[in-house]
Amino acid sequence: MTVLFIGGSRRKESLNAKLKHRLVEVAEKHGIQHKLLDADALDAPIYHGDLEEAEGVPESMQALAKAIDAADKVVLVSPEYNSSVSPLIKNAIDWVSRVDIGAWGNKTVLLAAASPGGLGGLRAVSHLRDILANVGAWTAPMCASCPKANDSAIASMDEEFLVNFLRQGDSR
Ligand SMILES: Cc1cc2nc3c(=O)[nH]c(=O)nc-3n(C[C@H](O)[C@H](O)[C@H](O)COP(=O)(O)O)c2cc1C
Repeated sequence: MTVLFIGGSRRKESLNAKLKHRLVEVAEKHGIQHKLLDADALDAPIYHGDLEEAEGVPESMQALAKAIDAADKVVLVSPEYNSSVSPLIKNAIDWVSRVDIGAWGNKTVLLAAASPGGLGGLRAVSHLRDILANVGAWTAPMCASCPKANDSAIASMDEEFLVNFLRQGDSR
């Protein structure tokens, strides 16, 4: 079972990158095989049909599509911006769907979010569920959300909960 972790913020002190690292630590401790994809790898140009026609799909997005194909499940750790999805993640979903319209089909996707706000990015998670359902992915029911996020709130997230979160979809 290989889990691909993808972070949705390139900010140096990103809370979502920190949440991603916490999840990776838990995966390592519990013997869950995984791969990491740096958020920098999502830095493709905003999807534009003319650009695609002229230059094709950016190599980084082709590599992402391959990594998704090779993974048994994908964990998206996304910030929330104005009640919705990180543009980095949305753009990556769009480009990957251009590599292969079935790239997300039946893929197990787990959703996580951290925010300094009280809702912990849950509205971004909810929007991501809709988008991913429409490209055919299966999103797991539990999300790992950290409201009022900071280093200590992320470190204090219950380990047993995080293991259960990561194990979702194992029997699919
Ligand atoms: C344009 C913008 C809109 C934001 N909107 C929301 C929001 O709707 N909900 C929320 O919880 N946080 C919101 N935030 C705060 C982000 O959650 C916060 O900046 C967070 O640290 C970003 O993720 P990162 O730390 O992983 O980079 C917003 C931040 C920006 C810059």
